[in-house]
Amino acid sequence: MTSTANLIPIVKMPDPVLRQIAQPVAEITDGVRQLLDDMAATMYYAPGIGLAAPQINISQRLVVIDCGSDETAELYKMVNPEIISLSDERAVLEEGCLSIPDQTADVERPAEVSVRYLDENGAAQTMTAVGLLAACIQHEIDHLNGVLFIDHISRLKRDMITRRVMKELRQSTGVK
Ligand code: NI
Repeated sequence: MTSTANLIPIVKMPDPVLRQIAQPVAEITDGVRQLLDDMAATMYYAPGIGLAAPQINISQRLVVIDCGSDETAELYKMVNPEIISLSDERAVLEEGCLSIPDQTADVERPAEVSVRYLDENGAAQTMTAVGLLAACIQHEIDHLNGVLFIDHISRLKRDMITRRVMKELRQSTGVK
């Protein structure tokens, strides 16, 4: 059992941790379970529908996802998630990211994904998802590989978002 969850500050672009390859989790300890609880609390508070550990400055392969409705939470805690298959069919969905505040773009990805992972008890799980959940799983696993959603869009749009984020950063830090 874990105690209360803590909110953890979310790391924003261009922090280099977001571009690192995260390390596999060797053992699922109480510390890891606490971290997953903290990540879930941080995600809900933001609010967001997914969060990967690099986004809280921890370069480990941990992800939490909840694409459920307001009434029905559907929380997945994934340790060392791995994509095992992707459909040829593709789908376009609007994506955003807690590490790239206030920016969204249409992102094309495989429409269906199968993933395997360990749950918080260390049990192997597999899941096949479509729709928003499929996009969210791919987005969060991308984070573990140092990939952001803006890497999947045109260079023109990526540069536009990057410029906006950097401008925002300069204004918030007072650096010109
Ligand atoms: Ni993200």
